[in-house]
Amino acid sequence: MTVRPLIAGNWKMYGRQASLLELDAIAARAATASGFDVAICPPFPLLALAAARAGQLGIGAQDCRADPDGAFTGDVNAAMVKDAGAAFVIVGHSERRQGHGETDAAVRAKAEAALAAGLIPIVCVGETLAQRQAGAAAAVVEAQVRASVPGAYPDGGLVLAYEPVWAIGSGLTPSLEEIEEIHGVARAALPSPAAILYGGSVKPTNAVEILAVPGVDGALVGGASLKAADFIAIIDAMAQQIRVG
Ligand code: PGA
Repeated sequence: MTVRPLIAGNWKMYGRQASLLELDAIAARAATASGFDVAICPPFPLLALAAARAGQLGIGAQDCRADPDGAFTGDVNAAMVKDAGAAFVIVGHSERRQGHGETDAAVRAKAEAALAAGLIPIVCVGETLAQRQAGAAAAVVEAQVRASVPGAYPDGGLVLAYEPVWAIGSGLTPSLEEIEEIHGVARAALPSPAAILYGGSVKPTNAVEILAVPGVDGALVGGASLKAADFIAIIDAMAQQIRVG
């Protein structure tokens, strides 16, 4: 099975209805993307509005609760995300693992709920700076993949994102060799093939070289997904990589 590359944007807690004009520009570029998918993950209040105007652009949420409907004030489950018109949901982002105490088991439960709802989970893993400096990056990522990714999913039905915690929003990235190494480790730990995205300070200036790394099937982009011009430059880099193979 061949995996389908993906360029996904994570708007985090940014964006208002006016930001949908940026989304429109991104959707116009996504409509001409061939051989890969493009997605934007806006905050919950924009999800249905974004889905209604996205066309070929995939829409995703940034989290979901694993439970079915119930008395969980303030939470949103996978079925609600699906109902809003989304196709993807990010689970296990480090900002949720760290800020909300999400364990690998909790992340796996969310990914399973997403699959059950007919969504494609984008499961995030990645080491901290201390773990990287201790030489434990590969072992940490391998363990996270084994414990966070469901044991079974359909072809193309799950995406993994390798996001070193220290690279997120920092302007720092691992070397291209380090990215290739960890993607290899992650791929070997997956129960079946899935696209593996790199995330963490992907910008128009480094997207071409990162997307050319063997084993990198796309990118999960935070800051550079908020402005259409930046994100479109990263989409263009993916298109270039698809062309040269
Ligand atoms: P960044 O964020 O591109 O702003 O580093 C990536 C992410 O957190 O998904």
